[in-house]
Amino acid sequence: MTQKEGNALFPTLAILGGTGKEGSALALRWAKAGYPVILGSRSAERAAQTAAELNVQLGQGNLRGLDNEAAAREGNIIVLTVPPEAQISTLSSVKSALAGKILVDATARVDAKDPRPPEGKAAARAAQDLLGPEVRVVAAFQNVPAHALKNLARELDSDVLVCGDDPEARAEVVKLAEAAGMQAYEAGGLDNALIVEGLTALIISINKRYKSKTGGIRISGVEKTGK
Ligand SMILES: NC(=O)c1ccc[n+]([C@@H]2O[C@H](COP(=O)([O-])OP(=O)(O)OC[C@H]3O[C@@H](n4cnc5c(N)ncnc54)[C@H](OP(=O)(O)O)[C@@H]3O)[C@@H](O)[C@H]2O)c1
Repeated sequence: MTQKEGNALFPTLAILGGTGKEGSALALRWAKAGYPVILGSRSAERAAQTAAELNVQLGQGNLRGLDNEAAAREGNIIVLTVPPEAQISTLSSVKSALAGKILVDATARVDAKDPRPPEGKAAARAAQDLLGPEVRVVAAFQNVPAHALKNLARELDSDVLVCGDDPEARAEVVKLAEAAGMQAYEAGGLDNALIVEGLTALIISINKRYKSKTGGIRISGVEKTGK
């Protein structure tokens, strides 16, 4: 099975940490929707193995695996799904490959016992500070549980709040969330992602209380019309 080329309609998505729970589950949804997807990993071998397994699951060839650096170079839009403690080191290691691109950051740096954010800023703001203005960082998917995403038979009822300082990049990420089967809302600038990460802490508490793995959030009362 060969991977198809990205194009304007279906840009190639590269998911750093794509072998993990959130990254592989998003990859499944996007590959199923027709996007060429590259899984990134610290190990090209592990990435290739995971991509092969997901291709078999989907019965197609839209996924392939590379090391994180090569994935960041080859992807048109880059998605980050590594654990919070690896966020900055991973981005530092691929920084030069991200220039001119959109980075979608799903990192939620939450401690369910102490929801105060480290350094008082959203994870995605820390990413933007590291990467500089050459990269358009958009925060999204921090509230979407991998458990719900990976079950393709399940209709997703978790909405996506998309925060970023660049309106075009935000709109692009709304499209990606919709392609994966979710409702998505532009929710203001990157600093608003701090609130979104806080919601992740709430969802973790709710999941624990009710022994669930699929809690999410839903926006009500908004009709999405044009600009
Ligand atoms: N899990 C969820 O339901 C969920 C929901 C919303 C948002 N998120 C966010 O998504 C991100 C990933 O969460 P996850 O649950 O998918 O994590 P995970 O499965 O534990 O890890 C994802 C991948 O990150 C890589 N990784 C692990 N430790 C690393 C390190 N020290 N340095 C560099 N790479 C490392 C691993 O890939 P390799 O070993 O192949 O390199 C791993 O497969 C987090 O920021 C989390 O807040 C998760």
